[in-house]
Amino acid sequence: MPNKLPIPRIQLGVYMTSGASCTAAVHTALSLGYRAIDSAAWYANEGDVGLGIQQFLASNASVTRKDIFFTTKLRSNTGYSATRAAIRESIRKSGLGWIDLYLLHSPYGGRAKRWDCWRAVQDAVRDGEVRSAGVSNFGVRHLQELMEDSAAAAAAAAAGKRDVPITVNQVEVHPFNTQSAITEFCQAHGIVVEAYAPLVRGMRMKHPTIVRIARECDVTPAQVLVRWGLQKGFVVLPKSVTMERIRENAQVSHFELSEGHMEELEALDEHLVTDWDPTDAE
Ligand SMILES: NC(=O)c1ccc[n+]([C@@H]2O[C@H](COP(=O)([O-])OP(=O)(O)OC[C@H]3O[C@@H](n4cnc5c(N)ncnc54)[C@H](OP(=O)(O)O)[C@@H]3O)[C@@H](O)[C@H]2O)c1
Repeated sequence: MPNKLPIPRIQLGVYMTSGASCTAAVHTALSLGYRAIDSAAWYANEGDVGLGIQQFLASNASVTRKDIFFTTKLRSNTGYSATRAAIRESIRKSGLGWIDLYLLHSPYGGRAKRWDCWRAVQDAVRDGEVRSAGVSNFGVRHLQELMEDSAAAAAAAAAGKRDVPITVNQVEVHPFNTQSAITEFCQAHGIVVEAYAPLVRGMRMKHPTIVRIARECDVTPAQVLVRWGLQKGFVVLPKSVTMERIRENAQVSHFELSEGHMEELEALDEHLVTDWDPTDAE
């Protein structure tokens, strides 16, 4: 099913930042033209993100809440009621009225729990609390199972009740961990790939291939990494709390990586996991 989700291609990541510096980073990013922020209940910063968005909106009459894309995620797959409650709590904490994209943060818990939580997210979409729904850290099998369970439930339901599509799978993706089996499956099924840790968490900024390509394109290593993700067709979520870096990470439309550069970058894959990798969980 083709995916029609209008989703900003570069979004500010806010993992490992909270309090005033998170609020300031969100405000800075919005001032620089970002229109999307990727938060999570786990990051304990939904309120800080919401505050940054609200402060920005209060001082920019030409931008409204509808212009901002707020993503947050379910902390753990505990069940239907807990998920409904978690969604309402995320909305309350953010103060933003609704969530633009809500993700199951991981596949942990097993197939039955994933389905229970997904039903809750579907109902939150139908009730207008959530605008679009997706998953994170799902492997191909998790996606297939959820699609099967969704289709079966929709077929068994009263006429007219359609399943809510999986719009996004957010996974760790960068040249050092291309996750090509997952990304190809997603792209073949109209699921947007959101690339997290797109800057490899800063771990490969001095890699000789990255440095050389950056020099050849007259850009920075971070811009090479962001550009690679965009040219692969992904949504990219670079995180920074520094104004200059927030600006730099989004200034990538003035150059293009050649096919040769893309191939060289692809060849760097070493399945580098910078944080966690639940994509093969039960
Ligand atoms: N779904 C999940 O399980 C999951 C997991 C991890 C991440 N995420 C999401 O993806 C986002 C991005 O991932 P991430 O935060 O792990 O890592 P990342 O964006 O790959 O890297 C962030 C690191 O790079 C530094 N940095 C930023 N811009 C830079 C630049 N231009 N030059 C040099 N260094 C730069 C940042 O430092 P400063 O902040 O000091 O600039 C920070 O240390 C997260 O914030 C979160 O929203 C999701």
